[in-house]
Amino acid sequence: MSLRDDFRTFLCQTSSEPIGMEVDHAQGCMITDRSGKKYLDFISGIGVANIGHAHPAVVKAIADQAARYLHVMVYGEFILEPQVRLAKRLADIVPPPLAVSYFTNSGTEAVEGALKTAKKFTKRKKLIAFKDSFHGDTQGSLSVTGREVYQKPFRPLLPYVAFLPFNSLKPLKAIDRHTAAVIVEPIQSEGGVNIPDDEFLPALRKRCDETGALLILDEVMTGMGRTGELFACRHWNVVPDILVLAKALGGGMPLGAFIGRPEIMKTLSVDPPLSHVTTFGGHPVCCAAGLAALDFLIENKLPERAERLGRYMMDQLKKLFGVEGVKDVRGKGLLIGLELMNSKLTERFVSNCREAGLILGWTLHSNTVVRLAPPLVMPEEELDRGVRIIQKALSKALQ
Ligand SMILES: Cc1ncc(COP(=O)(O)O)c(C=O)c1O
Repeated sequence: MSLRDDFRTFLCQTSSEPIGMEVDHAQGCMITDRSGKKYLDFISGIGVANIGHAHPAVVKAIADQAARYLHVMVYGEFILEPQVRLAKRLADIVPPPLAVSYFTNSGTEAVEGALKTAKKFTKRKKLIAFKDSFHGDTQGSLSVTGREVYQKPFRPLLPYVAFLPFNSLKPLKAIDRHTAAVIVEPIQSEGGVNIPDDEFLPALRKRCDETGALLILDEVMTGMGRTGELFACRHWNVVPDILVLAKALGGGMPLGAFIGRPEIMKTLSVDPPLSHVTTFGGHPVCCAAGLAALDFLIENKLPERAERLGRYMMDQLKKLFGVEGVKDVRGKGLLIGLELMNSKLTERFVSNCREAGLILGWTLHSNTVVRLAPPLVMPEEELDRGVRIIQKALSKALQ
């Protein structure tokens, strides 16, 4: 049996047509398969490799921490230096008054924690989310993910959840004094790279203030510099009550966090204590990796770089306007959506790109929007090469 056959037989499959690339190694912006073919990575493991794959600073931090200790105690009991140092560093860079972090293993767990914290703090039941959102696949996160096709097989989900249209002001009236929290992605990523109008997030903040509902910003995809700011909420000067991070936070290791004001986060330590615990959340090796990644991101001004490269890439891609088959190009920083006319064309285009050595993919909720999210460290000549591949792959898909 080949490795591919074993993959098909022994690993639970999540689709009938996985990409199925046999990975040999990955470094920087390149992934090399077992035949030696090199691929330029334009999706960063879906928004994870912001500082590139296997960054030497991260690899060293992992090795150093692994040599000291791995898991020693469940989250929140022992004082683990990498956790404390990362939490303190995050407190310096998140918008005040956010200051206290709870670390998790993943994005969906961070969303779960944020929702539970909001319900406990406000003593309210109702949750508001948005159509076409994605917040993760565990039951609570799925309950606030605004896509019927993914919710339906798993009902009953959480009660008291209402979905509003994204980027629409009038429906925000549905947020009321029974609402514990509103959860939103500043830019909907899986929804098809949907960027709200400038009024939307400030209006949402205002409505939450009027009603006492907590605003949870899910920056799992948009955080850590991806959109040209360290956190996308800075584009609109909106400060959430709870900020959710994951993906690039761990520098390639599994790490998530929800970060809030001290008085909100304190709610998890009382009535009863230990009402939200995790064994592995904030694993010391992952926190050490996250700290190294964050230091590199900030020292090298990668959010600014993402802004500059994103603008350049959008200019290049906009030249595709007028090309038959291209409907829209939109984005912020290095989170860009390329919308094509139909799903067959999109499928052919993505597969042509892969054949030519470029990895990208469409979004979960839209089979006509291709998401481009290269590492923020991508050299300009590689970015240009990627754009050339995109142009050729598109012409070929149109033939
Ligand atoms: C906006 C957003 N929130 C939450 C999640 C869930 O994160 P994870 O896959 O780490 O559970 C994702 C994953 O794609 C995401 O894009």
